[in-house]
Amino acid sequence: MAKKRILSGMRPTGPLHLGNLHGALANWVEMQDEYDCFFFIADWHALTSDYEDPGRIPQYVQHMMIDWLSVGLSPEKSTLFVQSRVPEHAELFLILSMITPVPWLERNPTYKDQIVQLSNKDLSTFGFLGYPVLQAADIIMYKAHGVPVGLDQVPHVEITREIARRFNYLYGEVFPEPQAVLTKTAKVLGWDRRKMSKSYNNAIYLSDTPEEVADKVSRFVTDPNRARRKDPGDPGVCNVFSFHRMYTDADKVAEIESDCRSAGIGCVECKKRMAASLIEALAPIYEKRRYYEERPGELQDIMRTGTERAREVARQTMAEVRAAIKI
Ligand code: TRP
Ligand code: SF4
Repeated sequence: MAKKRILSGMRPTGPLHLGNLHGALANWVEMQDEYDCFFFIADWHALTSDYEDPGRIPQYVQHMMIDWLSVGLSPEKSTLFVQSRVPEHAELFLILSMITPVPWLERNPTYKDQIVQLSNKDLSTFGFLGYPVLQAADIIMYKAHGVPVGLDQVPHVEITREIARRFNYLYGEVFPEPQAVLTKTAKVLGWDRRKMSKSYNNAIYLSDTPEEVADKVSRFVTDPNRARRKDPGDPGVCNVFSFHRMYTDADKVAEIESDCRSAGIGCVECKKRMAASLIEALAPIYEKRRYYEERPGELQDIMRTGTERAREVARQTMAEVRAAIKI
């Protein structure tokens, strides 16, 4: 039986951090064996909010592909590509925009949300309103069955289903309706105990050097009630401990837990140990990144091959679309 097809994308708005790894990437990596995976860098989508200052997008695209490869996305197993290099997305976006009622887009909760949150940017553009239409084109172009996304993206997949249904109703059955596949997320907090995020400036990046990782860990907020070294701590409220759970061997985690509760270990020492575990866990990622940074030609080949493979499918779909609408 043919593998089911999965498709997902990320906007290249900056380097990826541990929150992205545990939130999305780890899931993608796992799905590679079971599904026919298409993963792409949504650089046109980055333009919807960063159109005034697009200068860094190309370098974020390169950086993102290295981030992906470094954590184990594999060009042999998956089709890895860049949106803007498959111009068929723009054509399908145009056609879908003809059949998408504006109220569907105005109702989109992320649209209203983002306009408020990104109030420093003028997002009263046609492209920003049409964001989900471009996303629908991305998804149905490949006739994806499943779209692994976080909760915030579910409304976009819902709009995609509605657009696919409307296309099929108007022009005949071309597109399957994709399903959102909710990513099971381990929530990762930054040093300040807020959700790890680029915009909070509290993130540990996949591309951080071991020195940077150690330095960031040393600034982690610990149990706020543990004022002095001799006070017992509560690992349950400490983000350093959450990281130990993710990155330190289980037997050592149990030891740290009881040592913290008995004030047998100080926070400085505890952080040092956590930094060591984290750096060790990130070492293979760091090494892979170095590999690709030293071989830009190989990186370009991977992008070219993936994009060509995606384009093959996109050309086929567009032939069907043009036949269906007879233009
Ligand atoms: N909107 C998604 C995000 O911001 C990125 C994206 C663009 C996407 N096109 C997609 C995700 C298609 C899944 C499928 O995270
Ligand atoms: Fe957190 Fe470790 Fe300090 Fe306990 S000893 S409060 S787990 S940093």
